[in-house]
Amino acid sequence: MTPAARIAAAIGVLDDILVGAPAEQALLRWSRASRFAGSGDRAALRDLVFGALRQRDSLAALGGGLSGRGLMIGHARAQGLRLSQLFTGEGHAPAPLTAAEDAHVPPQTLPDDLPDWLRPAWHQALGDDAPTVAQAMTARAPVWLRVNLSRTDPRAAAAALQAAGIQTQPWPALPSALCVTANERAVARSAAYRDGLVELQDLSPQLACARLPLSEGDRVLDFCAGGGGKALALASRQPNARVVAHDRSAPRMADLPARAARAGLRIAIDARPAGSFDLVVTDVPCSGSGTWRRTPDAKWRLTPAQLSELLAVQGQILDQVVPLLRPGGHLAYMTCSVLSAENDDQIAAFCQRHPHFTLVERNLWTPLEASDGFYMALLRAEAQSG
Ligand SMILES: C[S@@+](CC[C@H](N)C(=O)[O-])C[C@H]1O[C@@H](n2cnc3c(N)ncnc32)[C@H](O)[C@@H]1O
Repeated sequence: MTPAARIAAAIGVLDDILVGAPAEQALLRWSRASRFAGSGDRAALRDLVFGALRQRDSLAALGGGLSGRGLMIGHARAQGLRLSQLFTGEGHAPAPLTAAEDAHVPPQTLPDDLPDWLRPAWHQALGDDAPTVAQAMTARAPVWLRVNLSRTDPRAAAAALQAAGIQTQPWPALPSALCVTANERAVARSAAYRDGLVELQDLSPQLACARLPLSEGDRVLDFCAGGGGKALALASRQPNARVVAHDRSAPRMADLPARAARAGLRIAIDARPAGSFDLVVTDVPCSGSGTWRRTPDAKWRLTPAQLSELLAVQGQILDQVVPLLRPGGHLAYMTCSVLSAENDDQIAAFCQRHPHFTLVERNLWTPLEASDGFYMALLRAEAQSG
């Protein structure tokens, strides 16, 4: 496909998304209907669509309208591309610019690409960093790998990846976290990945899991295990811990046995965990406001009502796990959100309801530190008197 044909395809896919289709579904629908497209075309289209969604409002302002076409005109203007060479109407190219599109004068200040209703909460949570974090959310996220320390060491993992043409850079403060700097699309089919030397995991959850207290023989419960990212990270750090995975939705854990087998780790799955754990991790459902670089359509789909529902679920999950901790055990609360309502406020309310918990530490990572936005609060359950 020519660059102009890819832009025409992006216009169609974006129009689908703007009327409510999830981005992944809209892209899949296009792929199925476009058998002529090769993998390079599909990857380029995905980049165009996700790039446009990350900067939806600013590109619409540049392009003169919130439509697939407006976004792609905005994209071309932002990239300094020659509109007259792309919007030709020839072959599969989009139609030439109308007089009004051509005469459009963008505003002096472009929007910050945050949903209007969420802007106050964003600024309240991030303070002086709010504009730069919003700006960072408009860029593509790097791919991070976690070295499976139970199988190999960071140097050997990096060499195995290098043999497949995949370049990586270790994170200085956590050398088992490797940032992929070239050939990221080859990771999933590389031997290093297939043999369980590395797993895909963003930097911030890796940093969070590395901070949790974990000793040989500990009983660990990943209460919202989903695909098992946190359970696997903890088992890889301490293979002699007894890691149990639970999720309200069993299908969400469908990939976990295969991932654990690939990594050579043992994770037990338990639909009704009971007893007294040394560490309980609650990686709760959240707005995902920290990961909007990766799922940019979620930024525009989130509603105040959905956020309220999530806040209620987060509080319920925290209350649910209290009886599962032994006295002196630790509770790690995690979200991939930067919003205070889901983070510090949730923990403050929890400590009021359960005064025998004390806060050990809290961390908020943002893309300004190279990672996705991510929050972790670590609490200790003191013995209850009486
Ligand atoms: C953010 S995701 C977890 C991601 C996962 N920890 C990982 O690293 O891949 C949140 C998970 O919480 C689960 N969940 C929602 N409500 C729950 C509840 N009341 N109890 C347990 N799990 C719940 C969801 O099914 C979802 O899989």
